[in-house]
Amino acid sequence: MRSVNELEVTGKRVLVRVDYNVPLSGGRVADDTRIRASLSTVRHLLERGARVILCSHLGRPKGKRVAELSLRPVADRLSELLGRPVRFAEDCVGEVAERAVKELGEGEVLLLENLRFHEGETKNDPSFAEALARLADLYVNDAFSVSHRAHASVVGVPERVGGKAAGFQLKREVEYLSRALEAPERPFVAVVGGAKISGKIEVLRNLLPRVDKLLIGGAMANTFLAAEGLSLGRSLVEESELETAREILLSARERGVKVYLPVDLVVAESEEAEEGEEVPVDSVPADRAAYDIGEETVALFAEALSGAGTIIWNGPLGLFEKSAFAYGTVAVARAMAAENGLTLAGGGDTLAAIRRAGVAHAFSYLSTGGGAFLEFLEGKELPGVAALKD
Ligand code: 3PG
Repeated sequence: MRSVNELEVTGKRVLVRVDYNVPLSGGRVADDTRIRASLSTVRHLLERGARVILCSHLGRPKGKRVAELSLRPVADRLSELLGRPVRFAEDCVGEVAERAVKELGEGEVLLLENLRFHEGETKNDPSFAEALARLADLYVNDAFSVSHRAHASVVGVPERVGGKAAGFQLKREVEYLSRALEAPERPFVAVVGGAKISGKIEVLRNLLPRVDKLLIGGAMANTFLAAEGLSLGRSLVEESELETAREILLSARERGVKVYLPVDLVVAESEEAEEGEEVPVDSVPADRAAYDIGEETVALFAEALSGAGTIIWNGPLGLFEKSAFAYGTVAVARAMAAENGLTLAGGGDTLAAIRRAGVAHAFSYLSTGGGAFLEFLEGKELPGVAALKD
């Protein structure tokens, strides 16, 4: 996979796939993390006199023009961050886009309107991919977080242009994650949380042969505890996955991977409760549900993390959005942040929890990807990454 700094870009039209799928509020960008993540690639290209054409999706407009999902507010924010004008084209293909590209000078930047206003984008329709590719001489993908989508701007365009490369952000992300999975410093500890085991089965299966320890929290831990014969009251338990949970525990034992499950839980009548009560895992009252891990579990997890060479984390360990149930996730995030080994985390909720814990700066790498991060952990080659290879 070539890097953008290996391309000869001066005077060339370079189409850059970025992920500007950002939250908007009142017509303004509410969180510009993803825009900032693209800046090093955009600046690199502008400094070398490229004609920079940025394209992205925003939301899921399903092939229709939806005014609230216009990328125009993103152009405004990008312009502030770059400290220079950012042109905007009202469409991403056709006459409007072609004219805007023609008017674009060397060292200037243009943002195209939402790719998903055309259904050809998500369908990877050849004529749509062709129309996009026509705008450019070269293609750069700097959107790790959409590289699990086999969409036109991710896989169709790179097949059709003269040269292609990975942007700095995508390259860095793939390198960090590959290093963790393929050549981890040991002990290698994975922390997996979130509500459901059903969405994480492939992640767990792919991690088991690689890790030394597996820490499981969040509501998905309930299913593992239930698989071990415990009664969890009204807690979320995926009955249909009990067998899978047993299989995973057995496979871990056979491989010598130490699995850590909660030993105590914070339970309450409902998630609306003002506060919860800590109980051992074998004493969950029949009319209560678990919403967080307890203090003893935090201590157990912190001990398991201590001295780790590599830590990968995906999925909150409780309902951290509610103050009454934030303690476990926040405390374990802080325990990870205090470690000296490589610390990687990904997923929207996980990153929100890390920010809430105030320790984002202390992690080695925070993935920009949600779905893409999970698919990478599942061991799949992302279509967008494969498309960049010669
Ligand atoms: C994301 O926010 O995870 C990416 O932008 C992908 O968005 P999508 O799930 O709508 O494809």
